[in-house]
Amino acid sequence: MARYTIALLPGDGIGKEVVEAALMVLEKTKLDVEYIEAQIGWEFWKTEGNPLPDRTIRILKNTACALFGAITSKPKEEAMNELAPKLREKGFVYYSPIVRLRQEFNLHTNMRPCKAYKGNPLNFRDDIDLVIFRENTEGLYCGVEYHPVPEDFRKVINKHRKMNKFKIVPNVEMAVSLRIFTRKGCQRILKSAFDFARKHKRKSVTLIEKPNVIRETSGMMVNEARKMRNQYPEIDFYETNVDAMAMWLVKNPQKYDILVASNMFGDIISDLAAQLIGGLGFAYSGNIGNDYALFEPTHGSAPKYVGMHKVNPIAMILAARLMLEWLGEEEKAAKIEKAVSEVIAEGKVRTYDFGGNNKTLDVAKAVADRIE
Ligand code: IPM
Ligand code: MG
Repeated sequence: MARYTIALLPGDGIGKEVVEAALMVLEKTKLDVEYIEAQIGWEFWKTEGNPLPDRTIRILKNTACALFGAITSKPKEEAMNELAPKLREKGFVYYSPIVRLRQEFNLHTNMRPCKAYKGNPLNFRDDIDLVIFRENTEGLYCGVEYHPVPEDFRKVINKHRKMNKFKIVPNVEMAVSLRIFTRKGCQRILKSAFDFARKHKRKSVTLIEKPNVIRETSGMMVNEARKMRNQYPEIDFYETNVDAMAMWLVKNPQKYDILVASNMFGDIISDLAAQLIGGLGFAYSGNIGNDYALFEPTHGSAPKYVGMHKVNPIAMILAARLMLEWLGEEEKAAKIEKAVSEVIAEGKVRTYDFGGNNKTLDVAKAVADRIE
């Protein structure tokens, strides 16, 4: 039996092309692994009314972790229009399978390294090396939403003095999405960030919130951070408001180190940070829980490029690297890291997005060839 069983979720569009590229690189590390492919994505929404079939969840439960390519997601009405006619009006509702996986497997920490590799012409600066820790299961993306607003819930919120101006608004004219934080959820993401900072001898942790306006939820996160920082005296701790952070990250990204944020702020700030180091071709994440993890490039399924084999596989390859690190295969992970940075620095093999005209698998091969 192989040492690891890993689920492959190539998903939609170019997801398949980048997963193939990552496998080419993993192969060269001689990881003792058995892969099990599982189904996810738009195709299964259209034909089964479920983009994340139960059989896929069952497969994942029997694996150590998962490598995820990309999926296509569309807003509510478009999703309904593409559902097989015989499944319509049967109560199927589209949901984001990646968000559901994060919830189902309690993958509470979304870790997003944003490092400028030397020689990447898309770098904003060459000295950026941030790691973002985004809370991944709660906050505004916890999925507790109402439209129309149910009467019993309305009764509760109508008691709030801020509701006076809304009192005449009918339930059907109002929509509510709840931003729910738990103390445990705050502590978990803060601990992930501080522990990583300690392990990797990083200088600072910066919390990104907005407690001056969102007093209760952001306030809870800030309070927990202030308590926790005392356990990490060697690490500097800063607090920022999310709006100001967007500005400072563009102004002085090299000054930041570890960033930590709740779900939506982390989502937004991580796209901003990704663009500073080359954009979607280089941005990847680990969705990490206590006993399961899923690794993915941040980009989507890029339908317009499907079959052209031209997208940049580096984000997917780096996601595989992060997976190796999580598995404890640090030597193999370091080999991939070194190979990727050499290929970028050398500049001979590049996909279109960073100034070349090579194909997806050319880049994967160049990386793989540097791993002995
Ligand atoms: C991300 C993506 C997802 C998110 C979408 C696809 C649901 O933007 O991983 O950052 O919002 O979390
Ligand atoms: Mg995002």
